[in-house]
Amino acid sequence: MIPNINEIQQKKKKNEKIVVLTAYDLFTAKICNDCQIDIVLVGDSAGMVSLGYSSTMPVTMDEMVVFCKGVVNGAKNCLIVADMPFGSYQVNSSLALTNAIKFIKLGCHAVKIEGGLEVVPLVRKMSDYGIPVMGHIGLQPQTTVLWEGYGVQGKTKESAVALYDQAIELERAGVFSIVLELVTKQVAELISKSINIPTIGIGSGSGCDGQVLVYYDLVGMFDKFKPKFVKRYLDAYELNLIAVKNFKSDVASKTFPSEEHSFSIPDSELKKFREFLETKTKSNLDNQTL
Ligand code: KIV
Repeated sequence: MIPNINEIQQKKKKNEKIVVLTAYDLFTAKICNDCQIDIVLVGDSAGMVSLGYSSTMPVTMDEMVVFCKGVVNGAKNCLIVADMPFGSYQVNSSLALTNAIKFIKLGCHAVKIEGGLEVVPLVRKMSDYGIPVMGHIGLQPQTTVLWEGYGVQGKTKESAVALYDQAIELERAGVFSIVLELVTKQVAELISKSINIPTIGIGSGSGCDGQVLVYYDLVGMFDKFKPKFVKRYLDAYELNLIAVKNFKSDVASKTFPSEEHSFSIPDSELKKFREFLETKTKSNLDNQTL
């Protein structure tokens, strides 16, 4: 059964943590589904993880739609949140609503919007129309790349107050939960205690009401960079390397495919096919000598 927004929010009241993972395709979505992950986020981090972009900024609606299709087909029992990519909600509220509705019609259950006070009117409008919105404050990867880069937020009183104000206003505007990205753990915990809706932390300590990680970070599907806040539960990159190297060497040494991976034609049919080839070869030779 897909948990609804109310059930997700109740978890905070019951002091139960909310488990969130990103997924961008059918396979990762199925794993999230089988593990009964509460929320699957089709994050625009897909642009970096699956398409090799250096930030999330270039990600388009068309790309997000493809990622969402795979996830909707795989995560049948999870609440699916689609990340609104940069440019899909800033221009005006009609475009933002059109894009959000596109995700909902695809089978997603909510959208996520990065931003603080500037997105409050939009959040209010979407909530009024019944579109559940997840907020996202702290580090905002879509735009941070243009300004200060990827840094921890909430290290000063001013920064903490700004985050607090954003959280309060977003809650008032109707978001059902808020991602706190790369916020100091004390500030994230205090903000989580100051609002009634759940906070979902990434790099923001254990005081948030839920935690999200990028799927490929969790399984170690990266060979290079590992952020401090990521816990790797598997070295999938290394395991994949081993598998692919073994396949390459099996093909080169002619040990793959073996009998067990091949199909046979019945002997009687094979005999007829051989005869056909013999006749064909003979007639080709005859034609050449003419
Ligand atoms: O795009 C994404 O994956 C995200 C999470 C890191 C919260 O926004």
